[in-house]
Amino acid sequence: MRTVASTSSAFLNRIAVLPQAPVNGSRVPSLTSLFHWTDPGPWGERSYPGNCSGRLIRDLLRYFEPKTVFDPMTGSGTCREVCSELNLLCTSKDIRFGFDACDESHYDPAWTFDFVWLHPPYWRQKVYSADKRDMSTAPHLAYFLHRYRELLSNCVNVLKPGGKLAVLMGDYSDRHAGFVPLTYWTKRIAFERGLRQACTDIIRFSHGATSSHRVYRSSFIPGLHDTCMVFERPN
Ligand SMILES: C[S@@+](CC[C@H](N)C(=O)[O-])C[C@H]1O[C@@H](n2cnc3c(N)ncnc32)[C@H](O)[C@@H]1O
Repeated sequence: MRTVASTSSAFLNRIAVLPQAPVNGSRVPSLTSLFHWTDPGPWGERSYPGNCSGRLIRDLLRYFEPKTVFDPMTGSGTCREVCSELNLLCTSKDIRFGFDACDESHYDPAWTFDFVWLHPPYWRQKVYSADKRDMSTAPHLAYFLHRYRELLSNCVNVLKPGGKLAVLMGDYSDRHAGFVPLTYWTKRIAFERGLRQACTDIIRFSHGATSSHRVYRSSFIPGLHDTCMVFERPN
């Protein structure tokens, strides 16, 4: 059967019914493994490439109740603004302001945090700058993963025992590299670094992604989500 763009457009905006979540003692009952909200909230700038919903960050911070937060790849400042609303201390950095999160020498040896929010580039899906230290400019996958290992090591080193590292990452694919399972690599490197997973993966529906509005001649299964993985530094 031939499928044409007009046929597939009939599938747009269909409503999916979510499974019922069990009642439990969570402080944030709306936070489940399916993050489906369409309204990103007032935090950060929607126009910033890769901007993410502050609601997910807010829900995680209300759930885990850290006192200090580190956001090494702040982009438009979504996490910083959420922290300010929740009256949490947030140290917010980005390569845009000269801070290379992959370089240990950029870290203050006195830093320790209860919670790290990490939203790195999904390799070259969006290129943020021409800076060679920007992870989105990594010329090949091996170099990107080398930088990712450095990044996760640095984040682990500033986490207090029992502290949480939440990483939002999406898989990537293109014609040259094929399908690159960056969520797999995130877990593999996190476990190599001695972290353990603190809770279920949170599948974030990609509402508003620019790629959703494009028409492609090639055939593939569209990825409509990214994944938030929360790790814990053992005591
Ligand atoms: C996915 S965006 C973060 C978007 C952010 N969560 C928001 O809501 O606006 C990734 C960010 O990582 C930054 N970045 C890339 N390489 C970096 C590096 N080596 N050190 C620090 N920041 C880096 C980019 O400048 C970009 O702002």
